[in-house]
Amino acid sequence: MREIQIMPSLLSADFGNLSKDINAAEACGASALHCDIMDGHFVPNITFGPMIVKAVRSLTNLALHVHLMIEHPERYLEAFVEAGASEITVHAENGPHLHRVIEQIKGLGLPVGVAINPSTPLCAIGNVINDIDLLLIMTVNPGFGGQRFISDMLPKIEKARQMGEEAGADFDIAVDGGIDVTTAPMVVRAGANVLIAGAGVFGKRPRIMEAFNALKAAAESAVSKEA
Ligand code: DX5
Ligand code: ZN
Repeated sequence: MREIQIMPSLLSADFGNLSKDINAAEACGASALHCDIMDGHFVPNITFGPMIVKAVRSLTNLALHVHLMIEHPERYLEAFVEAGASEITVHAENGPHLHRVIEQIKGLGLPVGVAINPSTPLCAIGNVINDIDLLLIMTVNPGFGGQRFISDMLPKIEKARQMGEEAGADFDIAVDGGIDVTTAPMVVRAGANVLIAGAGVFGKRPRIMEAFNALKAAAESAVSKEA
């Protein structure tokens, strides 16, 4: 079992006082921050771009995982690398050339994540399974924080873990959307090890550390029960 990571999503951070929330995430012992990039086309919401990622980079040494929910991600990879991204995740639904985009990210020297929407079957990533560092299974439809976890994704997580094992592939399984103290143990039991949470961490301000620790404990309880 890979190490369980709780990854706070900046989508629910206070953008009027980003440094305060980032410091809080650091104090929790988070190893990375999740940055949701939305363009109003691939998803119905708009968030921020490389400029803000660069500002976040200047505020912390934490790894920055950039989740691109934009059309034509290939056009913006370099900009996010220059801004200080530590990892880039693209959506499998983004176009016919997922393999090419993966190669481009690797060529820029970064670990690669591939995300799949709730309606996208796992076979969409079958042929690139050995090329990725992280598989991000969306547990809500991307676009907004604070949505309800789609429990039909649990068997998909189990299947992804199996697929990886059968292929001898070595990647993290991340879940994104609706992660709270109730759903955290469920996704860990199913095989996820990276739990991205916005409303469940920053959304609990001012009790960010309490919320982070509660999520971590909930996630880890699923492991210790198995052991
Ligand atoms: C949703 C984003 C998520 C979002 C999760 O499209 O990709 O990263 O921050 O938010 P919560 O944890 O609030 O469901
Ligand atoms: Zn995300």
